[in-house]
Parts: sequence; structure tokens; C-alpha cells
Amino acid sequence: MNASPAFEISKQPARPLAAQQPCRIALLGFGTVGRAVATILQGSSFPQLRLEFIYNRRVDRKRVAWVSPQVHWTDDIEQVLASDADVLLELAGGIEPAYSWAKRALLLGKSVVTANKKLIAAHGPELLELARRQGCRLEFGAAVAGGVPVLCGVSPGLSGDRLLQLCGILNGTCNYILHAMESRGVTLQAALKEAQQRGYAEAEPSDDVDGLDARAKLAILVRTGFHLQVDPEQIAAQSVLDVRPADFRYARELGCTIRQVARAELKSGTLLAEVAAALVSVNSPLGAARNNQNVLVTTGKYGGETVFAGAGAGGAPTAVAVVSDLLAVAESRPVASRGPALVAVPVSNDFRCRHYVRVVPAEKTDAIASLRRALTAGGVGLRGLLHHPDPHDRRPSLALAVEECSTQLVEKALRQAHDAGLLAEPPLRMSIVPSS
Ligand SMILES: NC(=O)c1ccc[n+]([C@@H]2O[C@H](COP(=O)([O-])OP(=O)(O)OC[C@H]3O[C@@H](n4cnc5c(N)ncnc54)[C@H](OP(=O)(O)O)[C@@H]3O)[C@@H](O)[C@H]2O)c1
Repeated sequence: MNASPAFEISKQPARPLAAQQPCRIALLGFGTVGRAVATILQGSSFPQLRLEFIYNRRVDRKRVAWVSPQVHWTDDIEQVLASDADVLLELAGGIEPAYSWAKRALLLGKSVVTANKKLIAAHGPELLELARRQGCRLEFGAAVAGGVPVLCGVSPGLSGDRLLQLCGILNGTCNYILHAMESRGVTLQAALKEAQQRGYAEAEPSDDVDGLDARAKLAILVRTGFHLQVDPEQIAAQSVLDVRPADFRYARELGCTIRQVARAELKSGTLLAEVAAALVSVNSPLGAARNNQNVLVTTGKYGGETVFAGAGAGGAPTAVAVVSDLLAVAESRPVASRGPALVAVPVSNDFRCRHYVRVVPAEKTDAIASLRRALTAGGVGLRGLLHHPDPHDRRPSLALAVEECSTQLVEKALRQAHDAGLLAEPPLRMSIVPSS
């Protein structure tokens, strides 16, 4: 009988099942996470894992006395690949040369563990297939939500359910910024500067604030949870940079706060997916996420809602997820592919939900009434209008709460109102994410 490709068991486990020898690890990248992993491996808790190599460019800068003298420090990747290491632990980051290293290691019969979301978002399915063919393992549990075990929570954890929705906060930097704006009323630029000073944000923060980091993670989650083939570039990502302190005041009146939300839902054969600043109820798990926390809420057809939350970044929490992957590889369970083959479907961000819109009406009489008429004519129903002029705003803004309708419909009506000269500056629309 032919095994279904979905659950095909490799005939050749990565390491002999009865292996008595410790699993030999070559660590590539001795940075924040690499150092934290080495710290755990230097402890005596995991005799089945043995750190053999530490590779880094210009490695002499990196040497530390607390690493065992048995470990070889090198900046020669060929030496690492030619060695008898069982697992290549890639913690350097970025797509290249990480992709070439991972591919070469798998072709040589070595398993690969990585925390690299960029690599897995861009090349995950291909590398997983190569690992399966080679009888090796590719593990990347730390690539989404750092120390929060969301990937193994979704699969195999929830693979007995049929997942309907994924909704989460997957970027700790944005959460730190938005939580600082919420709790201390600071501007986004001030919060970003503070995040950079504390080491929570890069000097060049665009991957975080523009949503590119979160959408790479969302793409990995969609593949794992929905078994759909999606590339990060297919997922709409909107910057959080337009959010102002006034938006938090208006959101509060609606019982909400603002978070960078990554969400996906399969509806009538289309994958709805986006990463954007959105209003969430203050009483929801997303609204309760503080500082640089990560949260994922999954909704399953049978099991309902499941919440994962915790430290989405940071050397030590991420290292825990990495070491858990190393242990799974060291146990040498036979390799099974991750669920059914991936299926491609159309991708859109046309979620149907309530919306929040901040506008600055043009300076002409009757602008607000004309705006209301224009939106109603465009099929957009208004639930309420909030008006609290901010003494710091050059021009006073208004906030509109829009009845549930398609995102594209609201955006079209707003574009038309702007083109008709009813708005003094481009409006800001954010979804109001429903909480169950
Ligand atoms: N930090 C977190 O909280 C976190 C959370 C989840 C996932 N991750 C992922 O974990 C990975 C590592 O992140 P990290 O924060 O530890 O990064 P990091 O602090 O920048 O460390 C990366 C290390 O790799 C070395 N490296 C980079 N490119 C290299 C190359 N081409 N050749 C040789 N060495 C190279 C760097 O050397 P130099 O010192 O010379 O630059 C540095 O020592 C990334 O994929 C990241 O996305 C990180």
C-alpha cells in the first residue's frame, strides 16, 4: 500500500534511532541568540547535545572564556560543512548565505535548526522537501514568536482541529512602541527612539514598523496552520507609522486600543490576510499584550479559541525554543512531513469588519456633512462620530466608527471623498478586529 505523501515516513532517520552518542552541533552566528543558546548548552542539563563548532565571521572578536575548550571556534564555513557535525544550527540571520549553508548541510545529510523567519518565509517549503528527501530534519520553531511555542502549538498541537482564523501580535518592537503610546501618551517617534535605545528596535526599523517582519511570520503560520502556499509578498502590510496619540484617545472611547495585528482567515476559497495597525478590544488577549510581548489567538472549527502568549523575542526565550528543536532532532524521531501538501489560493486583504477612520475635514463650510453624505452614498454606514480637538494638532481631526462592511468599500469611499476635496489630508483607516 502506498503511504499518503502527507504522512510519508522517511526510510532513513537523520541519526540512528539507537544513537548513544551526543548530537554534535555546529552553531553558525554567535550573536544575541547564538550566545544564549551556547549558554544553555554549556550547562549540564542536556548531555545529549554537544556543541562542537562556533562559526562566525572574524571569529576572534567573539571568543569567550566561558565556552568549553573542546569547542572549535572558526570562521571557515567549509571546515564546518566538512565536519562530522550532525546539526547545523543557523543563527546568523538573513537569506544569504543562510540559504546556501542550509541547503548544503541538508545535501550532506546534516539536519538544520534555525530561528530565521526570513529564510523560512522565502525558502521553507523547498528546504523542508529537501530535508524529507535526505532523511534529515529542518526545524524552525523559534522563527515565529521567538520563545512562544506557536508553530508546534499549531502543528502538531492543534492539527486535530480545522483552523479557521489566526490573529496575533507577532512583532515585539511594534508592540513595545504602541504599548508605550497607549500607556504613556508619547508620540510614535518618541516611542520608537526609546525602543532603539533599549535595544528592542534596530537602528533601521522599517522591517518592523512596515509590517514586513510580521508578514514573514504570518506566511509561515498560514502554511503550518492552513496548509496553504503563500509568499510573504502576497500579504498586504501597512505601516504603523501613521498612528498618532489622538488615535489612542478615540480608540479608548470605543473600548479599544491599537496594536499591529497579523491575521489570516480562509473564506470561500480565498485567503484573507494582512498585517496592519488595528483597533482591538482592551479586554482581548491582543489588547492585553504589553511591552514587547507576542500573542497568537487561533480559532478552530471544533476546539474554538486557543491563546498563546509570552516573550516573542530576546536571546534567552528564543534560545529555549532553539534548544527544544535541537532536542527533538537529537531524539531522532523518524521524519514525517508537516501535514498535507501546500495548496495555492487567491490572497486578499478585503476583510469584512467594523472600521475606524481618522479624518481631517477640509476647511470649508459643510465639509463634515458632505463627508457623511459621500460615505453613505458609497455604501458605508456610520455608527458614530468622535470629535476631541487636540491642542497640538495643527488641524483638528475627527474619528468615524464605521459599521461592518468590506475594507475595499470603505477605502474606495474615502478615496472619493479625498479626491472631491472634502479632506485636508489622506485619512487613516484601521480595522476594528472583532473579539469573540
Ligand atoms: N534576537 C531575537 O530576539 C530573535 C528572536 C527570534 C528570532 N531571531 C532570529 O535569530 C537569528 C539571529 O538573531 P540575533 O538577534 O542573534 O542576530 P545578531 O545578534 O545580529 O547575531 C548574528 C550573528 O551572526 C553573525 N553573522 C551574521 N551574518 C554572518 C555571515 N554572513 N557570516 C558569518 N557570520 C555572520 C554576526 O556576526 P557580526 O557580529 O560580525 O555581525 C552575529 O554574531 C535571526 O534569524 C533572527 O531573525 C532573533
